[in-house]
Amino acid sequence: MTTLRGIVLAGGKGTRLGELTRVTNKHLLPVGPLPMVYYPLRKLIGAGIRDILLVSGTEHMGDFVELLGSGREHGCQLTYRVQDEAKGIAQALGLASLFAHGCRSAVILGDNIFYDPLRPLLEEADQHPDWAWVALKQVPDPGRYGVAELRGNQVVGIEEKPEKPKSDYAVAGIYIYPPDVFEVIKTLKPSARGELEITDVNRHYLLQGRLGYTMLSGYWTDAGTLESLALANRLVLEQPPRF
Ligand code: G1P
Repeated sequence: MTTLRGIVLAGGKGTRLGELTRVTNKHLLPVGPLPMVYYPLRKLIGAGIRDILLVSGTEHMGDFVELLGSGREHGCQLTYRVQDEAKGIAQALGLASLFAHGCRSAVILGDNIFYDPLRPLLEEADQHPDWAWVALKQVPDPGRYGVAELRGNQVVGIEEKPEKPKSDYAVAGIYIYPPDVFEVIKTLKPSARGELEITDVNRHYLLQGRLGYTMLSGYWTDAGTLESLALANRLVLEQPPRF
């Protein structure tokens, strides 16, 4: 079985959080009793992944290193990579190409807070090691996210923040990729918002018949807006996530 590397994407400006991210990074803000970045990190570690890369911008990388160190205290080995400019999730993932060379990658967006442990999803994805694998969750406001269109148990379409969503299944920020994802990223063109979109990566695999999914059963939210950050806090206090 190809080795699995963990990647936490913790960049971006966090502008949707207004004054809260004026002097710090979104992923260092508290969610319940822990800084936000602990959640994706502990999900990966809980699933048995030990080699983890954290990608963030120049401004706050020192704070992440101060907080997490080598990873030893957390039971993992951390590598850090700087994203010079915030040019999208797929661009940030591309920075992992040496770290994850020849390996599969388990990628979590640093602001995604969810209940389910990661291991069952990995076990499903392991059935198809050369596929990309996404996590889906039914939400009331799919237009805020990547949206997957399903037919039977297959993804037949995937769109980023569609005006008219074809379903209410949001694509969560939890992805498993085969080693060739870095080749796929090299072929991407920036979207209308000037970013390399992770949805375009996922669509590439969909068109090749290599995209699978797991439906999350517990709660899931991003924590990138004032409302969703408040929700994430409420959720983890009511029901701490399983690692
Ligand atoms: C990103 C992705 C989107 C995904 C979401 C999950 O959106 O582009 O496909 O559904 O994360 O949190 P963003 O947070 O950049 O708006």
